[in-house]
Amino acid sequence: MTAVRRADPRDAQAATDVLRRSITELCVLDHRGDADTLGKWLANKTPQNFLSWLASDDNFCVVAEADSQVVGVGLLHRGGEIRLCYLAPGAQRKGIGKAIYVALEEQAKAWGLRTLRLESTVSARQFYERQGFRSAGIVTPGFGISHCHPYEKQLQPNPLMHPTGGGRPAADQEV
Ligand SMILES: CC(C)(COP(=O)(O)OP(=O)(O)OC[C@H]1O[C@@H](n2cnc3c(N)ncnc32)[C@H](O)[C@@H]1OP(=O)(O)O)[C@@H](O)C(=O)NCCC(=O)NCCS
Repeated sequence: MTAVRRADPRDAQAATDVLRRSITELCVLDHRGDADTLGKWLANKTPQNFLSWLASDDNFCVVAEADSQVVGVGLLHRGGEIRLCYLAPGAQRKGIGKAIYVALEEQAKAWGLRTLRLESTVSARQFYERQGFRSAGIVTPGFGISHCHPYEKQLQPNPLMHPTGGGRPAADQEV
């Protein structure tokens, strides 16, 4: 069974490893094996940076855990941007990405956000479209030779949550 929970500082190394492996092995359509692109993309995916992301109240970060191993990472910024949604190689197409997304969307609603934005890899476009995102603007340069595909989704406010964002954080999700 896989559970999605809030990330904590003890996850820094494992979560960073997942991010780096996911980018390197699962985003080949984006970086096409280009070393310069990979170098730029991976440069900020370090345990130290992960700890600084966790330390900010503007970030809501979750990990998916299976058999006590971190197999996925998601991060939502309070400004309404999903900044990370990455699985470890081998963890795809089992509903784990969706469970991470649901946790992020619940937190977005708890914060009173009306719109979610993200810049998708080529690899994840169909996944986000399945989650209700629509293409939102022109494709822009990403790291090196990769491209960012902007997406947006309008959220229905959760009536149980306080409109100023004081609601309970998204509960742990299981898949
Ligand atoms: C994108 C990613 C997070 C998706 O997670 P996942 O666990 O594989 O996706 P899920 O199994 O939860 O699938 C959810 C839905 O999306 C669909 N989907 C997922 N990946 C898909 C793909 N590559 N092509 C078409 N549909 C896809 C599933 O069929 C499913 O549809 P359903 O709800 O109708 O059954 C994962 O593949 C990943 O980590 N990719 C590499 C990293 C990446 O590019 N991240 C995005 C950064 S912006």
